[in-house]
Amino acid sequence: MSLGEIFDKKNNDLSKRIDKKKVPEHVAIIMDGNGRWATKKGLPRTYGHKQGVSVLKKIIKASKNLGCKVLTVYAFSTENWTRPSKEVNFLINLFSEVLRNQIEEIHEEATRIKFIGDLTPFPETLKKIISSSESLTKNNNDFLFNVCVNYGGRQEIVKAARELALKSSSGEIKPSEVNEELFNSELLTRGLKDPELLIRTSGEKRLSNFLLWQLAYSEIYISDVLWPEFNEYEFLKAIIDYQSRNRRFGGIESLPKESFEDSQCSS
Ligand code: IPE
Ligand code: IPE
Ligand code: MG
Repeated sequence: MSLGEIFDKKNNDLSKRIDKKKVPEHVAIIMDGNGRWATKKGLPRTYGHKQGVSVLKKIIKASKNLGCKVLTVYAFSTENWTRPSKEVNFLINLFSEVLRNQIEEIHEEATRIKFIGDLTPFPETLKKIISSSESLTKNNNDFLFNVCVNYGGRQEIVKAARELALKSSSGEIKPSEVNEELFNSELLTRGLKDPELLIRTSGEKRLSNFLLWQLAYSEIYISDVLWPEFNEYEFLKAIIDYQSRNRRFGGIESLPKESFEDSQCSS
């Protein structure tokens, strides 16, 4: 699989700057800025969400071609229900429509799709499409695409704590057996390696309740680009920046190399 050539404004092929041996296995993305992008263009916010879908398709391909194994995206948070019902309903319909139209292609590309979050409040039609998409692709091992919907990091942690409390009160486990590994096994992301890299678009510098446990030691890359304008080039910039980081995990190591933004080839 190859990345193809992705040029910056000075005609440098960005893909040549990627160290294939240091590609993150798991990338998480907070796809933010859809509404602002649409508003800037004088369009309803919903146009931004539609445009965001085509960007997501490109980024799934780019991350897979790069050699990543897992991509986890934040599509709808537990807090997003506070938006006007017209926007919420639009998003719910969009999820169904996109899944219906794209699932064959996702399957053909040997990608497994999984949904992370509490699906209970969603309409039956969406729940059915989610369930059939997950079972259709469940044996695809090349690439895992996680979509976080009605997902909240705090809710996930509370749920895990409740499950462990129940297991403890029924005598299945002892309180002294609760450790990070056991806790992790109760999370919705059980079995998954933590993301090495978190990308958030639109310049916002917060987690907004996303993967609070899993992002404990992830490298964070904030892009000022609004999600509907994000592309393979911006994605590679994030990867190159990630590769320049010195991941110390609390230890001591040599000084980090210059970041992508400081380097001469930045456009
Ligand atoms: C992200 O874009 C998509 C969702 C949260 C569903 P926003 O809709 O948050 O766009 P902005 O941040 O208001 O521009
Ligand atoms: C985070 O974006 C949620 C998703 C991208 C799905 P928000 O736009 O909802 O986050 P805040 O409100 O800026 O924190
Ligand atoms: Mg937002």
